[in-house]
Amino acid sequence: MDIWLKKLLWPGHWIKAARSSAKKNRSRSQADPQLLLYDRILQTDFLHYGYFDDPDIAADEISLADIKKAQRRYAELIIAQMTAPPETEVLDVGCGMGGLLSMIAKKGYRVTGLTPDRNQIDYIREKYKEIPLIHARFQDISPEEHKDKYGTVIFSESLQYIDLPTAMCYTDKILSKRGELIIVDYFRLDEAHEQSGHIWQEFMAETEKRGFVIRYKQDITANIRPTLAFAHHFCTNIGLPLYEFIKLKLDHKHPGKYYFIRELFEKWDKKIDSNIKTIDPECFCRQKRYYLLKLTREA
Ligand SMILES: C[S@@+](CC[C@H](N)C(=O)[O-])C[C@H]1O[C@@H](n2cnc3c(N)ncnc32)[C@H](O)[C@@H]1O
Repeated sequence: MDIWLKKLLWPGHWIKAARSSAKKNRSRSQADPQLLLYDRILQTDFLHYGYFDDPDIAADEISLADIKKAQRRYAELIIAQMTAPPETEVLDVGCGMGGLLSMIAKKGYRVTGLTPDRNQIDYIREKYKEIPLIHARFQDISPEEHKDKYGTVIFSESLQYIDLPTAMCYTDKILSKRGELIIVDYFRLDEAHEQSGHIWQEFMAETEKRGFVIRYKQDITANIRPTLAFAHHFCTNIGLPLYEFIKLKLDHKHPGKYYFIRELFEKWDKKIDSNIKTIDPECFCRQKRYYLLKLTREA
């Protein structure tokens, strides 16, 4: 009998399957498969969109090497905003694979990385042994324990993952009086079709409430757009045809099994369609703005 059918008919496997689906409840932030995929493709120790000096570069002319260069450039732009003296304590919230941590440490700053993702923690511990890490979600740290500790707090494409009032309240507590807050992320202009990114007006209200003032603001939407265009081009021209090929091949080679899982594919079709919309550069630029921001408290 086919191993697949045996599994389906044996009750022991039903218990194992139920236990496996319980894992689904584990929070995505503890081991984000999407971020792991990006890291495996790019291998740059960065998980952000990057910054293209030439925003007009065509999607089909972009190479992985260009994306890697753009990611490094993005990190350099963050560091260029850091005016605190070396030896300052810096916290990189949502530090990803540690690329920025390493660059900041080389400048002489005492930098700590924070991430809830255990894959990222294991990776940084192995590669950047000297860098202290906090393995937690930002909203789960004790702000009292870190009170006024950091001269610079950075959110590099990570603010969007954290509840906004909590993020600003905790930052207000852990950042020293004259400290600087650097945020690089995208914001929704209003209720966009796609829910990622905080709403700009709400962000502005929260910063004002905490006494923060924007000292530097650069709209880098056009400069991150090539990465989206590249991803969109790749997904529609390579990813989707490959996915359709796998479905056809499965239906052709194993029509019986395909019959049982057809609904699953239909569900994925919808998910893929929605994900492709998310990285559609036209859609993104209509609904969102990607900013590099530096804030300090009112003098
Ligand atoms: C798009 S990645 C950016 C990573 C890195 N800052 C960079 O620029 O390469 C988002 C990061 O935020 C982290 N993250 C997700 N939820 C978080 C939370 N609640 N608190 C802190 N970090 C979080 C992710 O694990 C990841 O490290």
